[in-house]
Amino acid sequence: MYDDSSSRIVARLKKWMDGAAPGAKLPSTRTLVAEFQASPVTVQKALQTLTSRGLIESRPGVGTFVRATRTARPSDYGWQSAALGSSPALLSSRSATMRGASNEAIAFHSGYPDRELLPERLVRAALARAARGDAALSRPPAAGLPELQSWFSQELGAATPAGINPPTPSDVVVLPGSQSGLSSIFSALVGRGQPLLIESPTYWGAILAASQAGVRLVPVPSGPEGPDPEALARAFSDTGARMFYAQPHYANPTGSQWAPGRGEQILDVVRSNGAFLVEDDWAHDFGITTSPSPIAARDDSGHVIYIRSLTKSVSPAIRIAGVIARGPARERILADRSAESMYVSGFLQAAALDVVTQPGWQTHLRSLRHQLQSRRDLLVASLREHAPEAHIEHIPKGGLNLWLRMPDGTNLARLTRDCEDAGVIIAAGTEWFPAEPTGPFIRLNYSGANPGAYPEGARVLGAALRNNGG
Ligand SMILES: Cc1ncc(COP(=O)(O)O)c(C=O)c1O
Repeated sequence: MYDDSSSRIVARLKKWMDGAAPGAKLPSTRTLVAEFQASPVTVQKALQTLTSRGLIESRPGVGTFVRATRTARPSDYGWQSAALGSSPALLSSRSATMRGASNEAIAFHSGYPDRELLPERLVRAALARAARGDAALSRPPAAGLPELQSWFSQELGAATPAGINPPTPSDVVVLPGSQSGLSSIFSALVGRGQPLLIESPTYWGAILAASQAGVRLVPVPSGPEGPDPEALARAFSDTGARMFYAQPHYANPTGSQWAPGRGEQILDVVRSNGAFLVEDDWAHDFGITTSPSPIAARDDSGHVIYIRSLTKSVSPAIRIAGVIARGPARERILADRSAESMYVSGFLQAAALDVVTQPGWQTHLRSLRHQLQSRRDLLVASLREHAPEAHIEHIPKGGLNLWLRMPDGTNLARLTRDCEDAGVIIAAGTEWFPAEPTGPFIRLNYSGANPGAYPEGARVLGAALRNNGG
């Protein structure tokens, strides 16, 4: 994740500077090279980092010095509270899952796969090719590169049964990540003050996007088999809602995949209420013992709005996703995207398309399946041995996360703090609930760096849980 040796030097120098007077001179580069047993390039890189953070300054021919910190006049932005009025949603836009972590920490909190799980060689080659091609200098159409639209529609079309019209490329709108698609769908198709049915628990970013769009969230409980169709039908008739947001495959955070047949039942309920199902297929490429079979493939009447993301499977740096919708709904999504950002970088679209159309992509996906399986199994075994108090709700058939119920009465704030003090970062489950949490849950992601540390991570969690009551 980071350049180990230069970040080590940065950390050590920062510690030294904490005790140094402003204006103190740093040792020469040659001394630092010897002291840290690093190359001059690595030492320079560390010094550049400290310079860019405003902590040191170099005077050519004289040396490098600790910068004097200027005491800033306290700012007063109080007038803005009056100008902006009350906040529509006092939600944190900074999820615990987006925090950085030091290299030494055992990081179970982040949702982004470690580099060793990405198709690095394909990504680098694709970026180099895209840099040489037209896409580096031209503006793509607002709905996306036609070849990428075709790829997204063919992927869904491949799962379409006989008798159903498969999606066409013109049903696709390419997105700069699926998060932006969620925002557009909620604001353009639901609208302020209107109800949105949403699985509970569910992805915190969907809760945030919906709250920002001012829609009224109505939780529909969902378990390992998916939501109960009757409960969904009741929620539609009680609220008059016209949309249900769901993740039928390897949901974040629970890892659930809806039971066979459940998709059709839910689709029937959605259809009979004249409503939309938003199918968020963020983990399409992360099947372990099953493969996802999108519900959208069985709908040609425009009831399902399907979102497929490549962010986590191709690269978080090539953040590309696609939404497939039909009819006026698709036009409204496109209008909202255009108002928000006009078009998505054609360079990134070309690179994403290049990666997923290489023969090596399928090989990569096969190896990813095995890697995720062994990581998931190692984490489960480690937890069973060292933290049996943490109840594994179910073993996911795909995805990147384990969802665990802690014993009743667990103080989650204290648990996360104690784990962190011992070098293990976990995510409290609270932020995945659209209403009050139904119990003390945590989410552990098994796609981060250093899976060899899972037994130690589980040991720390077990010890923190046993201390939690006292
Ligand atoms: C369920 C779900 N939907 C959407 C997203 C956002 O994906 P993207 O990075 O493509 O915007 C995430 C990211 O974690 C997610 O978990």
